[in-house]
Amino acid sequence: MLYPQEILEEVRVQNDIVDVISEYLPLKQKGTSYFGLCPFHNEKTPSFSVNSERQFYYCFGCGAAGNVYTFIMQMENDTFPEAVKRLADRANIILPEPQYTQQAKEQEQQKQRLFLLHKQAGRFFYDKLQESVGEEARNYLQKRQMHLNIQKKFGIGYAPKGKNELYQYLQKQGFSQEELQKSGLFVEKKEANEYFDRFRHRLMFPILDIQGRVIGFGGRILSSGEPKYLNSPETILFNKSKNLYGLNFAKNTRKREIILVEGYMDMISLYQAGFKNVAACLGTAFNQEHAKTLKKYADSVILLYDSDNAGTMAAQRAIPILVQHGFQVKVLQVPDGKDPDEFIKQHGAETFSRLLVNAVHYIMFQIQCLKKEYDLTQTQQKVEFTIKAANILAKLDNDIERTVYTAEVSRMTDISPQVIESEISKIIIKEDMAFMQDAQQQKKMQYSKNKNEITKAAGILSAQKDILYLCASNLQVYQKIKTILSAEDFSEPIYQKVYQKIEELYQKNGTIFPAELVNYFELPEEQKKVTEIFAVVLQYHSLKAMEKALTEEVRTVKRASLNQHLAQLPLQEQSEQTDEQIKKWVAEKRNVDNLYITIADG
Ligand code: CTP
Ligand code: MN
Repeated sequence: MLYPQEILEEVRVQNDIVDVISEYLPLKQKGTSYFGLCPFHNEKTPSFSVNSERQFYYCFGCGAAGNVYTFIMQMENDTFPEAVKRLADRANIILPEPQYTQQAKEQEQQKQRLFLLHKQAGRFFYDKLQESVGEEARNYLQKRQMHLNIQKKFGIGYAPKGKNELYQYLQKQGFSQEELQKSGLFVEKKEANEYFDRFRHRLMFPILDIQGRVIGFGGRILSSGEPKYLNSPETILFNKSKNLYGLNFAKNTRKREIILVEGYMDMISLYQAGFKNVAACLGTAFNQEHAKTLKKYADSVILLYDSDNAGTMAAQRAIPILVQHGFQVKVLQVPDGKDPDEFIKQHGAETFSRLLVNAVHYIMFQIQCLKKEYDLTQTQQKVEFTIKAANILAKLDNDIERTVYTAEVSRMTDISPQVIESEISKIIIKEDMAFMQDAQQQKKMQYSKNKNEITKAAGILSAQKDILYLCASNLQVYQKIKTILSAEDFSEPIYQKVYQKIEELYQKNGTIFPAELVNYFELPEEQKKVTEIFAVVLQYHSLKAMEKALTEEVRTVKRASLNQHLAQLPLQEQSEQTDEQIKKWVAEKRNVDNLYITIADG
């Protein structure tokens, strides 16, 4: 943990969850709860609740849950420390210097060394490009019309032909064998116990992180040959799914709109032509992680992929990911099978900018792709196309957009907009019904008390949750339970930890505030699980009723725990000691049925 628990709690208390969430979405009050449309899934009726008393949010639709930290982490895609910082700033609280664990410190030092190593490697390649060995690469760059100032800005370099020139250079700079190995810049030849430079006789593109630090390289072959591009492998610095090439420059335009291209040269070409809000994802398809990274700097994306088949498919795959993350998405395809770099080189920036304003809404792109598969002069094909198109249009939430694109499809097919509209309505109703049925099915699964394994496991889990809930809300309950259940009796590591924290917090404060408990967990998934324990208020009409429910639940949990112990015993190696243990567990199991929990009144 980076900050002392007291600070985390202070920051949390100073940021009322209702106030904070209201800054992101409108909330309506109903009793002590507030309701709104859930920001974490698509919905039309509000099922997202914020409880001001408990300082929690909980979505009855998608199950998203947590305290104010969880909310910020999910909303802003922050890590836990980042969320703490953001909320501290919001409340004008000055945070102390973060305290790193020894392990974190060592890892940080290791990273710093690798950053330095990459910086020097970049420098090495850059210098080689200027030397006489770099002539072929310089000619290549000239042929591709990359200006000198741009070469410099992007740190373009040349990896020489020798088998380990970089290796020897960095060794002289004082980098250890282990550091060189971890950099990913070298390939080990096991038999000879030798290291070779991964990049040889290639044009080098340093890959920078968002802060402009070199974290890897891409190397292009200078002639034709395979592979055309070679990239650094994943290292502790370089995560292909999180970094976008050029984003460190693109973010400075502060445009909140990013042009997404496929390759290094496309990115650089656009930049050189004055379109500076451009980035490329390298060597992997655009994925969820990319979207999260991009979300920090942009709200809208223009997909500018190659117009060949592969490029079209890649764009099709990127669209749902972007839409799901709330981006406005447009698509632009460069005419006559060129890639953006070739197009700009051939037609100039002026022509390209005219092209850019004609980027189409992604729905239009999807419909255009679909249209290519059908011959609309054939009646049957026209009908099939229209139904498929209606399915695409049904995904649009915005009525105005839907009307506009329905009109487009109507023009393509000569089928009246009203007819298409009514087809769309049918699809929406069908989808909503399917969704409702699904939800009901799930509910049934949860509540039916039949004896299949799933519901049994769910029963044990929910018993554990209820026990933790009651322990945290009532010291007397906890004191009683403590004599029966130990942390190991809980099946989930996270529940074990909660149970231990309940003990600690009672020791410290004498009372427990559930939202504070959540602070002890750093991952949103964990925070969600902890919040779920407290999300639903448990109410009993009498003390007796509570004791009865609690007794049942403690029995369930204890029984499951003992069964688990017995099941895990190795059958073969039975010794006297295990015999003793088994007897003890079996006896305990018998006792479980005689167990009654009573809580003194008051
Ligand atoms: N790529 C890769 N490995 C390959 C081929 C491609 O990592 N063997 C990645 C590179 O990031 C490349 C992008 O995919 O920039 C697009 O590939 P491609 O369209 O083949 O190359 P171009 O970007 O057109 O490269 P160039 O203009 O230099 O020929
Ligand atoms: Mn190209």
